[in-house]
Amino acid sequence: MKQFSPACDRNKEPILAVLKEILPASGRVLEIGSGTGQHAAYFAARLPQLIWQPTDLPANFPSIRAWAAEAGLSNVREPLALDVLADRWPVVTADAIVCINTIHIVAWAGVEALFAGAGRVLAAGGALFAYGPYRYDDRPLEPSNEEFDRWLKARDPVSGVRDFAAVNALAERHGLTLAGDRAMPANNRSLWWRK
Ligand SMILES: C[S@@+](CC[C@H](N)C(=O)[O-])C[C@H]1O[C@@H](n2cnc3c(N)ncnc32)[C@H](O)[C@@H]1O
Repeated sequence: MKQFSPACDRNKEPILAVLKEILPASGRVLEIGSGTGQHAAYFAARLPQLIWQPTDLPANFPSIRAWAAEAGLSNVREPLALDVLADRWPVVTADAIVCINTIHIVAWAGVEALFAGAGRVLAAGGALFAYGPYRYDDRPLEPSNEEFDRWLKARDPVSGVRDFAAVNALAERHGLTLAGDRAMPANNRSLWWRK
């Protein structure tokens, strides 16, 4: 049942360092696109003051549950089905939202829905954290990300590395203000906005 993502394993420590800076001292974190559940188990174990709410499409639940059960954590909730495109989300409020390597997977309509949803459910001052590769107007996309973008689009034409400016414009439209943009290993970025 337990799935393993090598990328998830590689990026968990650098992402945790950023999350420790930006997540609140207590409250509920909504994770969107939890995938294997490795991040939920790793972060929740190291941020015990937070309640971690994993979500994804239901096919991922067995792995998310298996990682959480193995870690024996009391602060990871049962995964919930959250399709960013759904009219209703199963969570109506969150103190923070964490979304890792998912913005380049879902269709652009899903990215729009993600930011609209974040604008709805985030508490005032709450952060939306989004990790992944992005294109910037002032510099060429790194060759590794060009290749990744081609790979994504060959796999599913709706996927692709997103433009930072377009994503940030969406955030602003939904009441979120950019609060950080940090270089991460392997040409990824940690971006976060606050409501
Ligand atoms: C590349 S994986 C990243 C998973 C995990 N966050 C990680 O870093 O390993 C992208 C995730 O997005 C989820 N996903 C795809 N379409 C979605 C949608 N419409 N709504 C919510 N999640 C979706 C997939 O099921 C998958 O778990």
